[in-house]
Amino acid sequence: MKILFVCLGNICRSPTAEGVFRKKAADAGILDRLTVDSAGTNNYHPGEPPDARTQVHALKRGYDLSMLRARAVQDIDFEQFDWLLAMDSLNYSTLLHRAEPAYRPKIRRFMEFAPQFNVREVPDPYYGERGDFEYVLDLVEAASEGLIAHVSQHLAERSK
Ligand code: 4NP
Repeated sequence: MKILFVCLGNICRSPTAEGVFRKKAADAGILDRLTVDSAGTNNYHPGEPPDARTQVHALKRGYDLSMLRARAVQDIDFEQFDWLLAMDSLNYSTLLHRAEPAYRPKIRRFMEFAPQFNVREVPDPYYGERGDFEYVLDLVEAASEGLIAHVSQHLAERSK
């Protein structure tokens, strides 16, 4: 299964999702069966590592994001990934508009996988404060756990 996390800049939310999900998937023993990547709907920060604040807050919870580099969403991503998981409503609608109709079912909101939070978006922390970065991590950890459960079930069904 191939999963692409998508936000606006690919320096705050989607690299956080990639790093958190990778660690949880490795802990669950399923990372070797997955392709995991992240990208931004804009291209403001190509080749840059995640935002320094994002990295500091993630590292405090044990997630090292320093190896990740920002890139923009490309047309081929819609073909190559099984799921494109959008952080907020703007990313979601941008992806839907860009995708050919056949690929639109691959586009989902990441927060669907954490229904207990009852929110639809991981809010952009870029102009925010420390608490906003911590809240991104709270949401991303919960949605990653939900996604792990969903993906594990999918992998089990596929190998039956
Ligand atoms: P992200 O946050 O979409 O979570 O990576 C942002 C990063 C940069 C900008 C906006 C949002 N920017 O405008 O440069």
